[in-house]
Formats: sequence, C-alpha cells, structure tokens
Amino acid sequence: MCELTATVLENKLIAEEIYSLTFACEEAVKVRAGQFVMVGVDGFPLRRPIAVCKAEGERITVCYRLKGEGTRRLASRYSRGEKISVLLPLGNGYYVSETEKRVALVGGGVGVFPLISAIREYADTKEIYAYMGFRNKAALCMQYEMQRGKELVIATDDGSAGYHGTSVQAFMENFERVKPDVVLSCGPTPMLRALKNAMTGRDIPTYVSLEERMGCGLGACLVCVCSLTNGQHARVCKDGPVFEIGEVAL
Ligand SMILES: Cc1cc2nc3c(=O)[nH]c(=O)nc-3n(C[C@H](O)[C@H](O)[C@H](O)COP(=O)(O)OP(=O)(O)OC[C@H]3O[C@@H](n4cnc5c(N)ncnc54)[C@H](O)[C@@H]3O)c2cc1C
Ligand code: FES
Repeated sequence: MCELTATVLENKLIAEEIYSLTFACEEAVKVRAGQFVMVGVDGFPLRRPIAVCKAEGERITVCYRLKGEGTRRLASRYSRGEKISVLLPLGNGYYVSETEKRVALVGGGVGVFPLISAIREYADTKEIYAYMGFRNKAALCMQYEMQRGKELVIATDDGSAGYHGTSVQAFMENFERVKPDVVLSCGPTPMLRALKNAMTGRDIPTYVSLEERMGCGLGACLVCVCSLTNGQHARVCKDGPVFEIGEVAL
C-alpha cells in the first residue's frame, strides 16, 4: 500500500450522476480485482473509499456516484492536470482458485464497478457470466468493459433496458444452465441478502464485497466494523472488503 499524489487525466460524467475518474500514479501499481482506493478530496479530512474499476500500469480508473458532499466536490473540483492524493491498493480483493473455471458476477448499482476489474482480470483465463443491475437506462454505463466475458445480462429495476428485474433474479434464472464454480458479488445490502438467500444450500463459494462507511481505510479507526455470523467482528477495510457470503451477517 502507498500514499501518493497522482495526476488527474480525466474526470467525466458517464451516466446519470455517475463519474469516471482516471488518474496517473508516478509508477505502475499492482491492483487485484476487488481492491479499493481511498481518494483524498480537498477540504474533507476523511478520504472516500472507491473500488478500482480499471488498473492499467500507472493509470487507475474509479467510477463513482454522486452521493453527498465529498463525491460532489470530487466531481466539481478535479479536472485534467490537477493533483489528487490517493492511498492504494487497499483491501483483500476477490479470490478465484485455479480449478474454478466458470465465474458468475452479480453486481448492483455502484457494485458493478469492482466487478469490472474482475472481468478484466479473469476474462482470458475463465468463463465469465456477468449479471449487472442498474436503476434504469440512464444509470447504465461501462457496457463495453462488461462485454469481455462469455455472457452479459444487463438488468434494470424499471425494465427500461435489458432484463426487467434485479441482477440476482437474472442470475438465478440462468443458474442451472451456467452452473458457476464460484460467484463474486457487490451491491447494496438488500441485494446481497437476496443473493445469500438464493445461494443457501447450493454449496458454491460466493464472495461479496461490502461497502461500509469508512474512516481511515487502514484498519486503525474501527469505523468500518461489520458483524460476522460467528458472533465476532471484522474490519471491512482491512479484513475485507471481500468476504465469503456465509461469513458475514447481512
Ligand atoms: C470498499 C468500498 C468501495 C466503494 N466503491 C465505490 C465505487 O466504486 N463507486 C461509488 O460510487 N461508491 C463506492 N463506495 C461508496 C463511497 O465510498 C461513498 O458513496 C462515498 O464515500 C460517499 O461520500 P460522500 O462524501 O459523497 O457522501 P457522504 O454521505 O456525505 O459521506 C460522509 C461520510 O460517510 C462515508 N460514507 C457515506 N456513504 C458511504 C458508503 N456507502 N460506503 C462507505 N462510506 C460511506 C464517507 O466516506 C464519508 O466519510 C465504496 C465504498 C467502499 C467501502
Ligand atoms: S476504516 Fe478505519 S478501521 Fe476500517
């Protein structure tokens, strides 16, 4: 992990309330799918955690939705050539073993972005079946990046594009045909809960990436602690953000 000052290459609107930020570090950074960056925003003492969507040598791309003051400032304050302070790469990332060949990705909302890094990492060695959910057609983005796997189903809550329903519903409708060896997921808690219910009793390793509120991103402040099903607790930033689905209380 390193703290560095990067140079913004691009910070642009790519869908309704969604921005794509690409910055260049001074040297290449090795990032695993599912790892994240703490982005410093001018005027805010706490950095904001954002998943790495693309890592290409020294160029890193993250995509973020406008949520509160921090992300709005990130969108308005930084343009090409500006310096930005980042901590990366953070967290454990997704894990797919050698023997797991058929990989299903189930993403919802901003949870599709870490899964795009999984498509990039595994598309050449695994069969990727991606089920990506958006609120509506206006929120749809990064389709080109998502098409690199064997199958892509876009789902929208209102049916304005692709499958009408959630990504979990789309995934379960295709489950028997796809027969995944492993499932990687990220999205809002109700979506992860639905996936957990659907996967119960199926004996297929399923990993979820959690998006808890964070303070330091380094394991020190305990702001991001989540409950585990064994009664213990874990730090999402340091022990996660990726957990086996049965391990975390959703
Ligand atoms: C590992 C991880 C990966 C993430 N990846 C993405 C991504 O790829 N794209 C994206 O749009 N968003 C992502 N998020 C959520 C993103 O961090 C929040 O939307 C963002 O921090 C909100 O900041 P804000 O100042 O605009 O909102 P505010 O609500 O004003 O933020 C106030 C404080 O709460 C924290 N906070 C608020 N909401 C969240 C949240 N849902 N998760 C974590 N911290 C929160 C902020 O960091 C800040 O400290 C990720 C979160 C985590 C933990
Ligand atoms: S954010 Fe500080 S311990 Fe996780």
